[in-house]
Amino acid sequence: MSPGEGANADRIPLIAANWKMHLTASEAEDWAGRFIPLLRDRAEALDRRVEVAIAPAHPLLDRLGRALRGSRVHLAAQNLHPEPEGAFTGEVSLAMLEDLACDFVLIGHSERRQLFGEDDAFIAAKARRLEASRVRAILCIGETLDEREADRTLAVVDRQLAAVLDATGAGFAGGLVVAYEPVWAIGTGRTATPEIAQTVHASIRRTLVDRLGDRGHGVRILYGGSVKPSNVEELLSQPDVDGALVGGASLDPHSFAEIALACLEMP
Ligand code: PGA
Repeated sequence: MSPGEGANADRIPLIAANWKMHLTASEAEDWAGRFIPLLRDRAEALDRRVEVAIAPAHPLLDRLGRALRGSRVHLAAQNLHPEPEGAFTGEVSLAMLEDLACDFVLIGHSERRQLFGEDDAFIAAKARRLEASRVRAILCIGETLDEREADRTLAVVDRQLAAVLDATGAGFAGGLVVAYEPVWAIGTGRTATPEIAQTVHASIRRTLVDRLGDRGHGVRILYGGSVKPSNVEELLSQPDVDGALVGGASLDPHSFAEIALACLEMP
């Protein structure tokens, strides 16, 4: 099968919010109170056609998790430490996320790589920690503007992906979600064109299929970087774009609901 062929229909899109260091627990509760009713009318259709997840900052997880209960919206975390426990001030363990019923966790976000010096080996160690867990990884990969201009995009995303696949067994792929986020498009208002996104997603798909066989067709590849209601449909119309990771536009419940509901308009 060529990249994308016959597979998009089998991959339920995932629309995930990354709130970064925004909102307080009270604001998160209020957000959920406004968001859930926006989906309610379409709940049955959404159930079969799209999955939704929210990744708030860690101190918000408990309150937001309670506010989302019964809504089928997944709870996601923004980070975890590779060690199971220990003297790591300020860090969060997998057991803590499991206890809060998180379904997903972001690893490898470019802000973690760039601002906090996380390298491929550290991110691979986080992936290894997740191998035996029901918490699924959303692995973020993407090139900087310099890397794109030097024509190194595909090599960079391949290296970032390989670091995690090399460190984990085939079982890990079952729960894996990949998010392609070109660094130059994050929080800048500059979105990759649908064609750019599809070219990179198709290359990621090829690597996944080379490495994992048919299971590679089942891995969802999200696009992230200035996704908003006005551009989500054209991005999702690409055969290997299986959802979105949304920062800025997820802070407003209306625009995030519009993004999730756009999945229902897709053929
Ligand atoms: P953005 O962020 O939508 O604000 O560009 C996306 C992300 O960093 O995940």
